[in-house]
Amino acid sequence: MPHPTPASNSPADKFTFGLWTVGWQGRDPFGDAVRAPVDPVETVHQLAKLGAYGVTFHDDDLIPFGSTEAARDQHISRFKKALAETGMKVPMATTNLFTHPVFKDGAFTSNDRSVRRFALRKVMRNLDLAAELGAETYVFWGGREGAEYDASKDIRDALDRFREGFNTLTTYCRDRKYKLRFAIEPKPNEPRGDILLPTIGHALAFINTLEHSDMVGLNPEVGHEQMAGLNFVHGIAQALWHNKLFHIDLNGQRGIKYDQDLVFGHGDLLNAFFLVDLLENSNYQGPRHFDYKPSRTEDMAGVWASAASNMRMYRLLRERSKAFRADPAVQAAMKDSRVAELALPTLAKGETYSDLLRDRSAFEDFKADATAARGCAFVQLNQLAIEHLLKAR
Ligand code: GCO
Ligand code: MN
Ligand code: MN
Repeated sequence: MPHPTPASNSPADKFTFGLWTVGWQGRDPFGDAVRAPVDPVETVHQLAKLGAYGVTFHDDDLIPFGSTEAARDQHISRFKKALAETGMKVPMATTNLFTHPVFKDGAFTSNDRSVRRFALRKVMRNLDLAAELGAETYVFWGGREGAEYDASKDIRDALDRFREGFNTLTTYCRDRKYKLRFAIEPKPNEPRGDILLPTIGHALAFINTLEHSDMVGLNPEVGHEQMAGLNFVHGIAQALWHNKLFHIDLNGQRGIKYDQDLVFGHGDLLNAFFLVDLLENSNYQGPRHFDYKPSRTEDMAGVWASAASNMRMYRLLRERSKAFRADPAVQAAMKDSRVAELALPTLAKGETYSDLLRDRSAFEDFKADATAARGCAFVQLNQLAIEHLLKAR
């Protein structure tokens, strides 16, 4: 590591990485792979050395699509051995329902019914493995569940089939007594022109219609909400408010464009600062999972360095957030901005709308112009946040 770290990573930080992140070979629509495949066993050892808590995987990251039963067992036992040697955990697993051409029109929502049945079987098989490895969360990123053409898919039927898929799979886990909870990962587009359940809000509304909705929450990704021009911190705050933040994908994105999957904090840094501030001051206890793609300009040394950068960014932002909250000038600015006042209920305890109607100070005698003339002092508060972020205070 070229830089001194404020403190080294520890498993207590719960930093996790997908096998597919550091294992990304850099293939994109315009260019070939720039790096050799990485053995999952090597990934487990490297990440353990860097202080990560665990790894996550798609079925096909660990067991190449189409492997024989014997080969499958071999891949799983090598992986288990690496986990045992390092103490690394597998808190989350997921299914690849997007790479094989059979999924070109989706998995749970493919127009082709036989593809939908195959997809459910593929998920069930990996749910068994996820449960065996002690995972708590099972992610559903529906990258191919979508369309390019409005005439090609009846979206209401697609949502029926999506729901049918979730209902079938939650029932499967309940019957098998798996402790797994499901987490939907929204994304607005890419690889499909438009993807179903494109944002946190769409997914929350969908979850409410499910048979075992208590088992289903969210795995929001920083860049995906930002691709839709949305404020990720607000999205996470609402997910927490609904008790639906089951898992999180941290990375970086700069504006509304293709999915960049940059290192955490390498996109909208100020939003990343407030995200860490929110997570650290919430009851979220889950992994801090990095779902990024080491840029195709990097060699393998650069890949491992970028993995370390994700964790370092999180720790630095956590430190800066603590300093921000502890600064008396910030506390005074928060008071000026009436931040705490929003926690006060609008009606007093026991007060009814009839009482409100009788309260002349609330309306008849209310000084709207004088109240409107008062500044909110929000800019000064934001300036202090940025100064803490820059370590200028
Ligand atoms: C993306 C997605 C994917 C999923 C992952 C889980 O960048 O579009 O984040 O990386 O998170 O494949 O299925
Ligand atoms: Mn992404
Ligand atoms: Mn992701």
